Amino acid sequence: MEWDPQTDGFGGEPEVWADETEGFCKQTTGFCDWRNAARGCGALDPERPGSAFLPAMISEKDRAAGGNEPAIEQAAPTRRDPAAGRFIVLEGIDGAGTTSQRERLLAWLSGRGIKAHATAEPSTGPIGKLIRSFLSAAAAPLEPRAMALLFAADRRDHLQREILPLVAQGTVVLCDRYVLSSLAYQTVAGVPREVVAQANAEIRRPDLTLFFSLPVAVAAQRRAERASEVEIYDADSFQGRVAAAYEREAKALRDAGEPIAFIDAGGTREQVEAALRAALTPLLP
Ligand SMILES: Nc1ncnc2c1ncn2[C@@H]1O[C@H](COP(=O)(O)OP(=O)(O)OP(=O)(O)O)[C@@H](O)[C@H]1O
Ligand SMILES: [Mg+2]
Repeated sequence: MEWDPQTDGFGGEPEVWADETEGFCKQTTGFCDWRNAARGCGALDPERPGSAFLPAMISEKDRAAGGNEPAIEQAAPTRRDPAAGRFIVLEGIDGAGTTSQRERLLAWLSGRGIKAHATAEPSTGPIGKLIRSFLSAAAAPLEPRAMALLFAADRRDHLQREILPLVAQGTVVLCDRYVLSSLAYQTVAGVPREVVAQANAEIRRPDLTLFFSLPVAVAAQRRAERASEVEIYDADSFQGRVAAAYEREAKALRDAGEPIAFIDAGGTREQVEAALRAALTPLLP
């Protein structure tokens, strides 16, 4: 079965899309391959690092057996429901342009009469606020693993509280940063990858990740031209390592068959926006 962006579903009849909802794999002690999981739930594949970010689905059998599904899953939209919205993630190193392009996409979608909503991680919720208080370089640092867990907790809260209800109502949600950011930043901050992956194992898969690719130096130049508060991840050496980790994780995601578009973000704002629109168009209602 291949993912079909036109229908936002898979070709052929899926075997375990029991009630057509996104689900959670009960076997989350390892990495779960997206397509294999769709067939039988729980094909664990430690050789495929990108697959940790992948969705997990619960089989009809497991569901009947009383799978312990968290409330967050129940709010997930139906994949085949044409009235459902889309969950679109923008990822890229600091200064890549994700926030400004998210605003451009929001205006473009709204102009086309499509319900759209822009959001970001850390969220504006209680855990997101807490994270932001630790992001300032002026704050006392939080232990990196604790930070990674906070990001994962905020992600779940953000999904539950804001993203999934909107998607279920037919809104296109554009989210600035998601699991790929955790895999890049938190691992470079010293947290073992499997810890980050595990904390994010049971998470809603984006319908599309837009990955902004550009040289670190170009992003640094853009950041330098923008006055903002110094954050703990701002050092150039840290950003260089984050860029390498980001690239590796994005490619692993692509190799795992996830919907990800690599966007050349080094061009003008207009060029980048055109590339983003082209990647997004096939998914739109
Ligand atoms: N294509 C572009 N060409 C030139 N400058 C750009 C381009 N895209 C964004 N910028 C500028 O670069 C700066 C960083 O952009 P933006 O804030 O959107 O990046 P970001 O990826 O969201 O950064 P951060 O992750 O730090 O929030 C802004 O001043 C923005 O106006
Ligand atoms: Mg930003």
